[in-house]
Amino acid sequence: MPQEAPRLTHCSAANYWLRGRRPGSPYAYRQEVHLAGAFRWLLLPLQIVQVATKAKAFRDSPVIGSPTLNRWGLHVLRKRLAQQMAERRRAKLAHLVAPEDREAFLRDGFLMKENFLDPDSFAALRDEVMARQAKARESLDGYTLTRLIPLDAPALRRMPATRRTLLTPRYLGLHAFIGSYGRRPYLYVQTIFSGVRQAQPDVQSFYHADTFHPTVKSWLLLTPVSENEAGFTYVPGSHRATRRRLAWERRVSLTAHQARDRLTGEGSLRISEEAIARLGYPAPVKLKAQPNTLIIADTSGFHRRGLSEGFACRISVWAQSRSNPFLPWSAGDPVPAPLQGVGTRLFGWLDAQIKQARGRANGWHSVGLRTPTAPPPAVPAE
Ligand SMILES: [Fe+2]
Repeated sequence: MPQEAPRLTHCSAANYWLRGRRPGSPYAYRQEVHLAGAFRWLLLPLQIVQVATKAKAFRDSPVIGSPTLNRWGLHVLRKRLAQQMAERRRAKLAHLVAPEDREAFLRDGFLMKENFLDPDSFAALRDEVMARQAKARESLDGYTLTRLIPLDAPALRRMPATRRTLLTPRYLGLHAFIGSYGRRPYLYVQTIFSGVRQAQPDVQSFYHADTFHPTVKSWLLLTPVSENEAGFTYVPGSHRATRRRLAWERRVSLTAHQARDRLTGEGSLRISEEAIARLGYPAPVKLKAQPNTLIIADTSGFHRRGLSEGFACRISVWAQSRSNPFLPWSAGDPVPAPLQGVGTRLFGWLDAQIKQARGRANGWHSVGLRTPTAPPPAVPAE
């Protein structure tokens, strides 16, 4: 006999907004969408405005996640418009990138630049980054432990070789062009320990698109990544929204608000390898690479962290940048030069606080001082 759905109070509506769906509750979606009285209407203007931002979570918004609106084409419209605006901004930033890189990126959606820095500069950067000890955050997910150490403005002031080597027109230009905004990306040292325990692969090991609009992430590798390790894997050309891709996005957008897969519900659509093939894209490419290789990609294309056999450790300078996808201008960083990069720490802290409050920390937590090479803690099997 069906149970009666619990009545929502204003408190539980606020709780909904902060914490999202209660996993396992048969009434979770009803609770989410049927917000209580006044609180629901108070949020609605904000949720309508969010349509014109990078907000992507279907399950957070009865507007972005609305099956009716998405049947009428809201999600596909946002994706197409974001793509067009990114193309316009990229055209204005094209002079920042060498023609052959531009051509390769527009064809494939990613670039792999071997020997990115000259050997001396790379050695100086690597020594400085590997010795960096700072407050870190870590996340344990499946068989992977990921550590992030921010490389913000205060950090870079104490790391002259890294600052001199990274913050060059060449490095920043690639991120500006691919990200379609002339702004400095958030920088971190990222350490990925695969196989730290007996468990399933982590959530990044399944094919997905990070979000609906063009965006950029990069890894300047400080350690080698071999064939059987967690190499970046990308589906060439999947950054382009083909007709088949848009039809797939439309279908998924009808049910994404209540998707079993948490990350699809949050707007990072998961897809199987078979479905990728049905969309007409070529086979994925798993990248193996040596230190001093820059891998940079538009992660609105399908990608994943490659599966790893046994224990592996990958250390890189990780960069990401994401702005409002609907703006027509490709303006530079509005932050004054001495403060540029300060946002990395603030962004990390804010992101962690919001996700924590909403119960979506995905295991991220502060761990105090760490170096990139400090061994992972012993963790029990999942
Ligand atoms: Fe991703």
